[in-house]
Amino acid sequence: MCGIIGCADTDDVLGMLVDGLSRLEYRGYDSAGVAVTNGSLAVEKREGDLSALEDALDGTGDELRGTVGIGHTRWSTHGPPTDVNAHPHTDEDGSVAVVHNGIIENYRPLRDELSGAGCRFVSETDTEVVPHLIERERAAGADRETAFRRAIDRLEGSYAIAAVFAGCETIYAARHESPLVLGVGEGANYLASDVPAFVPYTDRVIYLDDGEFASVSPESVTVADVEGTPLDKPIETIEWDPEAVGKSGYDHYMRKEIAEQPRAIRDCLRGRVEELAASVSLPELEGLEEPSSVQLVACGTSYHAGLFGERLFQRRGIPAQTFVASEYDAGSVPVDEDTLVVAVTQSGETADTMQALRGANRAGATTLAVTNVVASSAAREAEYACYVRAGPEISVAATKSFASQQVTLSLLASALAGPQSHEFLRELRRLPDYIQAVLDRSSVRDLVGELLDADAYFFVGRGYNAPVALEGALKLKEISYRHAEGFPAGELKHGPLALVTAETPVFALVSGREHTAETIGNVKEVQARRAPVVAVTDVPETVERHAEFVLEVPETHPAVMPIVANVQLQLLAYWLANALGRPIDKPRNLAKSVTVR
Ligand code: F6R
Repeated sequence: MCGIIGCADTDDVLGMLVDGLSRLEYRGYDSAGVAVTNGSLAVEKREGDLSALEDALDGTGDELRGTVGIGHTRWSTHGPPTDVNAHPHTDEDGSVAVVHNGIIENYRPLRDELSGAGCRFVSETDTEVVPHLIERERAAGADRETAFRRAIDRLEGSYAIAAVFAGCETIYAARHESPLVLGVGEGANYLASDVPAFVPYTDRVIYLDDGEFASVSPESVTVADVEGTPLDKPIETIEWDPEAVGKSGYDHYMRKEIAEQPRAIRDCLRGRVEELAASVSLPELEGLEEPSSVQLVACGTSYHAGLFGERLFQRRGIPAQTFVASEYDAGSVPVDEDTLVVAVTQSGETADTMQALRGANRAGATTLAVTNVVASSAAREAEYACYVRAGPEISVAATKSFASQQVTLSLLASALAGPQSHEFLRELRRLPDYIQAVLDRSSVRDLVGELLDADAYFFVGRGYNAPVALEGALKLKEISYRHAEGFPAGELKHGPLALVTAETPVFALVSGREHTAETIGNVKEVQARRAPVVAVTDVPETVERHAEFVLEVPETHPAVMPIVANVQLQLLAYWLANALGRPIDKPRNLAKSVTVR
């Protein structure tokens, strides 16, 4: 996830571009850059958040004055956050500059082809193929718009792309599976990944759809389809609360990030799953052999993702064990070079996880970071890094990163030991739609009023669902401040059942394909103690007579169902904390990245 912006004005655009980028920083803050065209093209870009770019711009002169320009704020996916990898990217003679949000799946073959034809690449990004493709079309005699269209035609993957040319007043843009919206102003027109970027300048917008192209100049905004046929797109007038900027209209980042999960998972899967061949491709793991055993080290929510991953490896015959990172001691567990130690960490900076990773490195293990942050400490210090591609997560409570970690670990287990089945990969591909169905239809909000006065909340599940039971409890306790515990369902009778009363709702995760009868047996145990049971299940008709409430999820593979079911639990925690008036995005005593031990 990155943010792009463009402005074509009769006045100087630099101030607007930087101002717009400041409202897109929630989409990424690894680096920022701008390109402005006057007679020639001037580019300034810097690693770090927007302030680094602003400092650099303070030192520049008139070269960045111009009436047409584009800007970018980056969340790294290919290549670490550096000045060189920052957007905009240009061709060799600096006649075209490009900004991009998305992932170009076929960038490797394109890069090989272009390098073979003599193009010199300076960055490690997927995006840099685009200006070179445009440059080649221009050299072959195409006009600017045709060159842009032909370049876009070569791309596979997701993109919102904007390009400016030296000495040209028009910005060319295209979208496929990444957001792009046009702003229609008076004497100035805009484009951006999201409305907040230009909301102080105009409230009239055109939403671009997949496969559409736009041309934006100071006088006009035009949209055409892939054949070049002009489209008559409606101009909508939007009402936007400046307070909601960055949260896309949601009250909290957590709610927004829950809603982003279908997109995050699509990005995570992009270019990595070949469903028909039942194969997974993770080129970043080239050289990594099937390990003799796997140890996963992580904290908090990432630890729960680790427990989920552990089960995936075990099912494929690879012995696996998950450790709370602060309890891990590579000296006292058997580790050698055939042991793969996987550090699961959203931030890539958690001190406990880093300590465990460093211990594993010292002990001679093969190490891998599964992280959301490109070039984070974990990514740099592990031998291999595999990115979960969730995009920036602002809310302290991890939501979309957990889902993306689960999916990445599913891919990892499949890549190292072969997928469980064709069906598993097919269902993984359908996961974004399943989650969307839950987001659209969940009735959990209506339930919250009935459960508000409970003494405590318990969460149970078996197999793949057991880690999600722990995660459901963690999410609820951290943002609502209510007491909550999660258990493998079979453990209830070994102690926790003593706490179960009519005042302790029990959330039971029931898969229709695995452990169904045993889990229902556990549900009956708590029902007998008059606890209100809320079943989260893909087989509602099997479970409904044993539960007071049923939260339904689409029927799917037992290793995919918990990822969907967890969304119901995220929404439960959110709406309960909301009803209690808690500061959801910043719960007391907690921090997003815990860099102390
Ligand atoms: C809970 C939460 C924390 C983190 C934990 C590890 O919602 O976010 O439990 O999961 O602090 O953080 P990372 O994944 O950055 O290592």
